[in-house]
Amino acid sequence: MTDFVTVAKVEDIPPGTGHTVEVRGIWIALFNVDGSFYAIDNTCPHAGGPLGEGHLDGCMVECPWHGWRFNVQTGKRSENPAITVTCCPVRIENNQVQVALPEGFK
Ligand code: FES
Repeated sequence: MTDFVTVAKVEDIPPGTGHTVEVRGIWIALFNVDGSFYAIDNTCPHAGGPLGEGHLDGCMVECPWHGWRFNVQTGKRSENPAITVTCCPVRIENNQVQVALPEGFK
């Protein structure tokens, strides 16, 4: 069974913005794309940049360190879809944003 953790209220993360949250000791980047929430590993696979602090443009977040761009809905890098970040399940319960870590995610 997937264990969801409450990480924010819906109004804490307005559409078009992102935030870094902690889920069971792991930093996760959480984004609001036009009212839908998506969560990915916060750690950029290039050199470890914090994706949750990146600029969100539509469903694309740009790493603040060197500009790699990732689709927050799929986890794929736009310039090279073979490079991905882990996507995490998100749900809304009673106005709370909840995130779970996928099976095997370290
Ligand atoms: S650390 Fe993210 S682009 Fe370099």
